[in-house]
Parts: sequence; structure tokens; C-alpha cells
Amino acid sequence: MDYLEIVGCQKLSGSVKISGAKNSALPIIAATILSDKDVTLTNLPNVVDIRTLLKLLTMLGGEIKHHDTSAIINNNTIISTKAVYEIVSQMRASILVLGPLLTRFGECEVSLPGGCAIGQRPIDLHLKALEAMGANIEIKGGYVKAEAKDGLKGAKIIFDKITVGGTENIIMAAALAHGTTTILNAAKEPEIVQLCEMIASAGVKIEGIGTNELIIEGTCGKPLEFKPVEIIPDRIEAGTYLCAGAITNSSITLEKVNYQHIRSSIDKLESMGCNFDIKDNSITIYPTKNIKPVNLITTEYPGFPTDMQAQFMAVAVMAEGESLIEERLFENRFMHVSELNRLGADIWLKGSTAAIKGVDKLYGADVMATDLRASSALVLAALVAEGTTKVRRIYHLDRGYDDLEGKLSKLGANIVRKKELLFKKS
Ligand code: UD1
Repeated sequence: MDYLEIVGCQKLSGSVKISGAKNSALPIIAATILSDKDVTLTNLPNVVDIRTLLKLLTMLGGEIKHHDTSAIINNNTIISTKAVYEIVSQMRASILVLGPLLTRFGECEVSLPGGCAIGQRPIDLHLKALEAMGANIEIKGGYVKAEAKDGLKGAKIIFDKITVGGTENIIMAAALAHGTTTILNAAKEPEIVQLCEMIASAGVKIEGIGTNELIIEGTCGKPLEFKPVEIIPDRIEAGTYLCAGAITNSSITLEKVNYQHIRSSIDKLESMGCNFDIKDNSITIYPTKNIKPVNLITTEYPGFPTDMQAQFMAVAVMAEGESLIEERLFENRFMHVSELNRLGADIWLKGSTAAIKGVDKLYGADVMATDLRASSALVLAALVAEGTTKVRRIYHLDRGYDDLEGKLSKLGANIVRKKELLFKKS
């Protein structure tokens, strides 16, 4: 198993190129199931989750040519519609194949993803919406078995709660359905907008893109022909590098970034005293000596993203004063707190709120990554900790950050990936 060894207190400087968004690439890869022709994707991030979903498509019979940041996917050759536990258990987002497989083939079996470190994460809203579209759904042996022999039918879906994955699954299902689907209380994250634009550019009429109400005219089962798709920049990776600039009091320029997508993070960093130079495709954060405390609540886009909560907590640890962070989306997304406290942070938890008292110094220690974004928060804290920090279990990090240690090294961080030594029992 790999770990990261970081010697803290180095000033960073220079520029970093932001990779394509994992959370956009995943539904877009799933959407290729809606087509029986080649689909070309570019600007894919080089992360494990993308390889996992491509592997799942290959297991279903899809033909994939994947090289570096691009892929050509052809799903005309799909022979199986069963997404097995071995893959789905590695990555919850595999559930995104449910809507496209069902709408294109009239049946599928997808393993239930189960809970994960940050919360229960049920898929009841995905299933309820597909049932409203005429699917027969049965849960048996840990699998969702779904059937719609004559195809899915357009329906009016009102999500009880805003769900990103649920909205994506229903958009894809609706694209080949018979008739019109209206989705109310839809998520409107930039990743959803890109998925809608991809499907709309294949000729499907979609109204309300970028709003909470989507109206989609299905093709009555006719597969789509997609234009090449370039994945949008990763707003969470971008926000993480802004936090790296803020916490280390450094100047960092992000290249290939979309300012509109990270406005909530920039606003919060501005309230903490950070200054920026914002250009068309690049953003520079300038050194900030005295970080002010912050109050934030995670919520749906365009509000403050839960995926940036842990990184902002790391920055708040070094602020002058007390910050409050409330997590409203996931019930167990504070596991980084005890690890940050191991580095010398002073954080108290009460329910879904964390109170963070700023400290003058952190000290390197051994810490354990607990989920994807928690891992990057530990790396950020380690960048300013005195001495050496070892961040273990970084397989979480590899799921979603493209070459984090390479990009941070180029900025001047002292960070190396090492292998755990395994001691054999004699
Ligand atoms: C996606 C993102 C993830 C991000 C999250 C919230 C991807 C691959 N992942 O996850 O990085 O943190 O959005 O922005 O894009 N819920 C239900 N029932 C359902 C579905 C969801 O109760 O059927 C709940 C969840 O438990 C959670 C909330 O709704 O409390 C939001 O979850 P959702 O938006 O669905 O998150 P994901 O799509 O899983």
C-alpha cells in the first residue's frame, strides 16, 4: 500500500494545470451506453474511478480505446447488462449505469452500492423515479433487478431531495424513453449541465438546462449519436489548489479552470482575506499572511460544495479565530477531524457542526486518509505542519486526484509517494 510523505513548511509558487472533472467524466462515460456508435471523450482525468468505470463497460462488452486523457468508447457490442458487485463495491458511482442500461436494453441488474465512509447514501430516489417511468424493480441478492420490456415512459418526477446521481440517472433514462419526462427539484451542478449538453447535442430536446426543472423529450428507444465531448475542468481539484495557496501563504496560478464553477469557494476564501487575479481560463491566488476565520454551510450548487468542506477545514485550522463549518449533505463527513487534531488542530464536533479554533502551528504525524476529500485535507494540513507527515491509505486520494503529489512537487512542495514496508511474521 502506498503512502505520502510530506515535509511541511515549504513555500509554494508557480502554476498548476487543472484536470478534467471526475464527477463529470463518470456520468458522461455512463451516457455512452445510450449510443451504438463510437463516442470520443477528451480531457479525462487520470484517476482510478475513471479506470474502474471503463473496466465495468468492458465487462459488459463495450469496446474501449483508452489512452492518457482520451477514450473512444463503442457500446454497440454490449452483451451483458449486469453490473457486478466486484466493481460497484469499488465505486458507488457505478450506479450511474442503471438508467442508461435500462432505457437502452429494457432490463439490467446492478449491484446495490451499499453505504460508504461518509454516510448511508441510499439510492431510493433513483429507484422511485425509474418506477414512475414504468420500470419493474426488485431488490434480490444484493442486486437491483430492473425491467421495462417495452421501454421506459416519460413521467413527471419530483425528487424529494436534490440528488446529483439521481438526476443524472433519470436524465439518461429519459433520453431514450417514450414521451416527455419532467424532472422537478433536479440538481443543477456544472457536471449535470455538461451531461445535458452532451445529450442535447445528440438531438434530444432538453429544456431548462442549468435549472431545477428539466423537460426531456425521449427518442422512443432510438440510440444516440454523440459529438466528441471535452470534459470540463474539475472544480473540486481547482478549489483544493486554491486552498493549498491559502494555507501555505503562497502565490499559485490555476490554469484551465472555470471561475463560474468555483465562485462559492472563491467567495469564502475572499472572506478569509485571500486576493485573486481572475482571467478567462486562469486564476491566481496571492499570498495571505493572516487568514481570517470562516463560517460555512455545505449545500447544493451553486452553494458551498460538500466536496470542499474538508479542505476548507484544513485552512480554517490556521486562521486567526474560531470558524464554524456545518455539513448538511452527508451525515458522517467529519472523519478528517480526528486526523487533523492528531496534527495539532483544535476542532470540536457537535452533531453536524464543527467548531475550529485556529492554531499557530501544526506538527507532522502519521495520519490516515478516510475518504477522498478528507485525504486532500490531510495533505493540505501536512504542507504547513512542522516536520514530517505520513498520510496513509491514499488509495482514497488516487480515486479522484490526478497526480496530486506530482502537481504539488512542481509547485515546490516536499512530497513523495512511498510504499509501506510489509513485515512478514516469522
Ligand atoms: C455526488 C458526487 C459527490 C458529491 C455529492 C453531493 C459524483 C460521482 N459524486 O454524489 O462527490 O459529494 O454528489 O454534491 O458526482 N440521497 C438519498 N437518496 C437517494 C440519493 C441521494 O437520500 O436516492 C441523499 C444522499 O444520501 C445525500 C444527498 O441525498 O445525503 C445528496 O446525495 P447525491 O447528490 O445523490 O450524491 P451522489 O450523487 O452520490
